[in-house]
Amino acid sequence: MSSPKFQAPPGTHDVLAPESDRWQHLVALFAQHAARAGFGLLQTPMFEDIGVFQRMGEGTDVVRKEMYEFEDRAGRHLALRPEGTASVVRAFNQHHPIVPWKAWYVTPCFRYEKSQAGRYRQHHQLGCEILGTSDPDADVEVIVFLRDFYAALGLERVDLVINSMGLVEDRQRYVEVLRTWLTERIGDLADDDRENAQRHPMRVLDSKRRQTREITSSAPKLADSLSGDAIAHFDRVQSGLASQGIPFVVDQRLVRGLDYYNHTTFEFQAGALDAAQNTIGGGGRYDGLAESLGGKSAPGVGFGSGIERILLACDAEETFTGPDTRLDVFVIDTTGGTEARDLVIELRRAGVRADRAFDQKSMKAQMKNADRSGAIVGLIVGPDERDAGSVAFRELRNRDSEQVTIDRREVVGSVLSHLGTARDSFLSP
Ligand code: HAM
Repeated sequence: MSSPKFQAPPGTHDVLAPESDRWQHLVALFAQHAARAGFGLLQTPMFEDIGVFQRMGEGTDVVRKEMYEFEDRAGRHLALRPEGTASVVRAFNQHHPIVPWKAWYVTPCFRYEKSQAGRYRQHHQLGCEILGTSDPDADVEVIVFLRDFYAALGLERVDLVINSMGLVEDRQRYVEVLRTWLTERIGDLADDDRENAQRHPMRVLDSKRRQTREITSSAPKLADSLSGDAIAHFDRVQSGLASQGIPFVVDQRLVRGLDYYNHTTFEFQAGALDAAQNTIGGGGRYDGLAESLGGKSAPGVGFGSGIERILLACDAEETFTGPDTRLDVFVIDTTGGTEARDLVIELRRAGVRADRAFDQKSMKAQMKNADRSGAIVGLIVGPDERDAGSVAFRELRNRDSEQVTIDRREVVGSVLSHLGTARDSFLSP
């Protein structure tokens, strides 16, 4: 088959059923967890004034190199959202909700990345943010939330890595020390890391290049620049995780790609995925972000977790295979379609998942459709059944079952009792 002229752009994907059912199910489960923990759904526009994202930190690749920017017809400079947190904080500044404000979201994010397995130009994040509290227990809460969510999906091979960036001032002080230290060794770093040594020195610690890692193994440590308050905050986070029995590793190299973090940062890495794209979720505290977006000072903490990567990890661990969305009933009508048309409507109104073929296909073709649909029950109406006011009933998933004839008026009741589930009609109040 020749490929059509138009395809989804590189790094983007169409998600068809049944995979899309799995997505829906994942989001529904997340919504359930979020509601249980007191988070409300926040919906914000997919694009914002570009300043909203630029204020997150001009040093980050996400902002500097990867943003989808455009001008609208009135000349406003806008950008598609590369991540979720900045919009949440912008909305917080705009609406002044009562604090602590707990918001969750599900959103596409756009980054002009080199696309590969697990790294896309449009990916989708589930996220939670808590604004208006600097309590380290809020950090514990979001980390434990995310871990419990992964566990609910059946993921077992997920490692938690945490770090502390300290107070905003600690981080700033450390960045200067590190910049100077790296500049003195610039020639020894891998070529691709040299630019970051100036622009975003902490990113160099995170480099995967061996040459750079050897040099930075003796770099000044952020832990040595932490103030007493930062150490106390981080201790409380660690003891909170320990009291929940959650294993974690403190990794000084965990810097994260975004500039706005202070205090706690964390990532969940899926053991079943390739190391380059194994971070299925990450987040941390960003106490300076509300202010840098022009609002009053308000601390915040949260996470974002990529749906595609979560599902890749689920595939690799053979868990969370998705809901069974197969049909209950397939109606086969060889009398012209009127019986099928009316019967599926009746069944659907009674809450049964029912479908039919169109275009007056042959019996054989309709049976094929019925088999492919995975339906439990086949209802067959030929001229004999129609004239007798009956319907033939057949169990499609059980080859040995006998076909039985039932009264047309009793079809819905028979189907419901066969399915064994007391279904509520979705038309009932
Ligand atoms: P992030 O680490 O940039 O953080 O992204 C969060 C998650 O989104 C990643 O752990 C990964 O699962 C997924 N992700 C990121 N980029 C891609 C991509 N190109 N393709 C596929 N998946 C991707 C944030 O975005 C922060 N807003 C998280 C946060 C919330 N921090 C505090 N609150």
